[in-house]
Amino acid sequence: MTQEYSTDNLPDIKNLRAPNFESLAEDQRPKVKSIGILTSGGDAPGMNATIRAVVRVAIKNGIRVFGITRGFHGLWKGEFDEITTRQVSETLQRGGTFLMTARSKTFETPEGVVKGSKMCKVFGVEALVVIGGDGSFKGARDLARIGLPVICLPGTIDNDIASTEYTIGYDTAMNTAMEAIDKLRDTASSHERCSVIEVMGRRAGYIALNVGIATGAEVVLIPEHEYDVDRDVIRTILDGRNMGKRHYIVIVAEGAGKATDIAEQIEKATGIESRPTILGHLQRGGSPTLRDRAMASLMGIHAVECISKGLLNRIIVLQHGAIADVDIEEGLEMKKTIPEIDLQRAGLLN
Ligand code: F6P
Repeated sequence: MTQEYSTDNLPDIKNLRAPNFESLAEDQRPKVKSIGILTSGGDAPGMNATIRAVVRVAIKNGIRVFGITRGFHGLWKGEFDEITTRQVSETLQRGGTFLMTARSKTFETPEGVVKGSKMCKVFGVEALVVIGGDGSFKGARDLARIGLPVICLPGTIDNDIASTEYTIGYDTAMNTAMEAIDKLRDTASSHERCSVIEVMGRRAGYIALNVGIATGAEVVLIPEHEYDVDRDVIRTILDGRNMGKRHYIVIVAEGAGKATDIAEQIEKATGIESRPTILGHLQRGGSPTLRDRAMASLMGIHAVECISKGLLNRIIVLQHGAIADVDIEEGLEMKKTIPEIDLQRAGLLN
């Protein structure tokens, strides 16, 4: 019997742990016949494809699906609406999220978590599917800790979720950045300039590193490893010029510095005209790539397989190249970083 909480009896969420149903026999696990689904945090291309997969496969398995708009904000407000298989047609190829999303602070408070869980009861929703980044997963984990089972699907362009090698939206964002940088290279080359491009990634450098390799950047700066502007930027550019290079691409992850500052420092130290470009939210939009559509669809199917088996409070992940699931508490305790050797290898290609 799960403990009942209310605004007069708030849970001590920090000291609770989400139940792990893995060790129970399948007939002892919760039987879920109705789920809610929401997207939370920054949108990512492929979120629609994920919703579509969950909705279609859940309905085929006899599970009703309620779409919840505006992420945790809509959960809290009771913005639930049942979705049918037909309603998700023509969504596979669309960027953004048709359920819309929000960054909700309410879910950082026990009151918000209790209220969200209560809303699920009101609509007869027995488990919640959350598509988002690890901030959203923490909100989901708190709901799980007070007794509402959850399944999390990794949807963020940043690829910064420790338990998974891949997040839905990452491939599209990298391709968008790559195409933009190819264009910037054309103009940098015509003017013999240095183009300093700031890419997204929050506190992670995955987008910057891979896009840097794919565009032949002279310099890649990421938050995972400290850098020295004179040694790692100015010296590299001057070495390049002395070898006969006529244009330069510097990629800076947003967590590692500002393109405007770095461009200014390069121009001042080398005399090479430098132009900053911030790619910004451009990287979050657009039709998902094949990889994102396929990963979204396969991860969505895996999510429903877990729900049907009563294997709840899981994060759907890619590990060693295969789709799998991990316990939400364990997944959120994991750490992820970029090995220094990966950054050094990017520098070998100049
Ligand atoms: O997490 C995705 C992301 O695009 C990050 O790369 C970036 O730091 C952040 O979201 C931007 O957030 P917002 O859309 O709230 O400005």
